[in-house]
Amino acid sequence: IDQYAVFGNPVKHSKSPQIHAAFAAQSGQQLHYRAHKVELGRFADAAGQFFHNDGKGLNITVPFKLDAYEFADELSGRARRAGAVNTLAKGEDDRIYGDNTDGVGMVRDIHDNLGWEISGRRVLILGAGGAVRGILGPLLKQRPEHIVIANRTVAKAEKLAEIFNELGDVRGTCYEALDGGQYDLIINGTSASMSGDLPPLPSQILSSEGCAYDMMYGAEPTPFMRWAAAETAWAVSDGLGMLVEQAAESFCIWRGIRPDTKPVIEAIRQSLA
Ligand code: ATR
Repeated sequence: IDQYAVFGNPVKHSKSPQIHAAFAAQSGQQLHYRAHKVELGRFADAAGQFFHNDGKGLNITVPFKLDAYEFADELSGRARRAGAVNTLAKGEDDRIYGDNTDGVGMVRDIHDNLGWEISGRRVLILGAGGAVRGILGPLLKQRPEHIVIANRTVAKAEKLAEIFNELGDVRGTCYEALDGGQYDLIINGTSASMSGDLPPLPSQILSSEGCAYDMMYGAEPTPFMRWAAAETAWAVSDGLGMLVEQAAESFCIWRGIRPDTKPVIEAIRQSLA
């Protein structure tokens, strides 16, 4: 039976085994998928051993996405741009192929599942870490009017804007400079929610049909989602759909079958409550 796994640290609370088991059951595919905690500094050993033992594919989560990027024999264009790999697949030729499905996963959730338009919209992204770098390419491919990246450490936002500006109009800035601007879509890519924090946003920054998307998720709305609701956002969502969609894209790379994500998103949502 074909073996798959998610490598991370910590990885105990990963939903990936549940998601991939649901995809496999739904499509009648025989496979095993487990969560595996890898010690820091041991990624290449662990991944090498996994593939040596005939493992077929890995998902990679925090903090190993850069190690996976280094580990891959070949990279997709989107992985290269993201500077990170969340999916490894063993090819017919035994070479290890690295991809990044986070960005397409988010775009599928925002565009297909939620039905929010990205094309022609003014987009604001909060944060400039690895998570944001992973989504910029696929977002710019949707042809937003422009993307502004706001970050506490403004140099990181400017650096990202520089890497991606050949794909579209993207600028980096600090939170203080947001005053007076308006956006149709605000995406929270900071890790601020994890400590119950909210990036400092001016009031009335959301346009009348402005949507707010948090890349984080949980049983309760995040501080950013509560802020957006109080600002009377037109629509608000957490990132649970993105999690399932990036998994679906990985499943498709490994198995050649695109799973039906809707029932799986619903099932995971139920299990959070
Ligand atoms: P990830 O890989 O999840 O993106 P990261 O690279 O550590 O993690 O990036 C975390 C992001 O959240 C950064 O943009 C960080 O801002 P700085 O670059 O200025 O540190 C942002 N962040 C974390 N806590 C925050 C807070 N309380 N308020 C605003 N931004 C915060």
